[in-house]
Amino acid sequence: MDVLGIDIGGSGIKGAPVDTTAGRLTQERLRIPTPHPAKPEPVADVVRQIAKHFSWDGPVGITFPGVVADGVVLTAANVHHSWIGVPAAELFDDAVVLNDADAAGTAELAFGTGAGRRGTVLMLTFGTGIGSALFVDGTLVPNTELGHLQLRGKDAELRASDRAREEHDLSWEKWAQRVEEYLRHVEMLFSPSLIIIGGGVSKKADKFLGHVNIDTPVVPAELRNEAGIIGAALCAARRR
Ligand code: BGC
Repeated sequence: MDVLGIDIGGSGIKGAPVDTTAGRLTQERLRIPTPHPAKPEPVADVVRQIAKHFSWDGPVGITFPGVVADGVVLTAANVHHSWIGVPAAELFDDAVVLNDADAAGTAELAFGTGAGRRGTVLMLTFGTGIGSALFVDGTLVPNTELGHLQLRGKDAELRASDRAREEHDLSWEKWAQRVEEYLRHVEMLFSPSLIIIGGGVSKKADKFLGHVNIDTPVVPAELRNEAGIIGAALCAARRR
């Protein structure tokens, strides 16, 4: 089934039609800068523009960078606070809406590095924040929010996200030490059999993964920038 997948991020909103059986985009993706402030109405306008660009009137799946339960936004750590309580599924004309890391992880477990993996698998995305998606025998435990675990008395994402690397002007090696400390904590809590690193940094894995030494195997995501779009579409297809 073809589904329009849309990935809402802090800097860009990206969308493309997805063949959800093959797990690939069927047309070149469209990226529109996220409006600022990224309040619900202007973001919904961009989502409509993307649907219009592809002349889409079929099913739509959309990611959001916060907790989304039954289509309603419950948290907004890195987007405008006015999202909290918004029935996003309704606002986006009955799209399926889910957390961005949950979507990316779902795509990765279906078509990427984690394909066919059983046991406890954790996908962590490093970007503006840290997103998490926890799978047990391929089934998602939604909205785990492990980026907000406390590390040295602070939200882990404030220390170890890619934004923290940029803001504190950390070398890859220095940043990798923070990531390692974070992963050790997560490893201690969940004993996963595999940790998949997603987000923009997954394509720069050679710069830092060699400096991350923990017992659990840690691998970069394969689907890169497209994981959110593909995962959003796949979740919408599965819910039909
Ligand atoms: C949010 C998560 C989101 C992650 C990545 C965190 O700040 O709380 O819901 O998945 O950022 O965007």
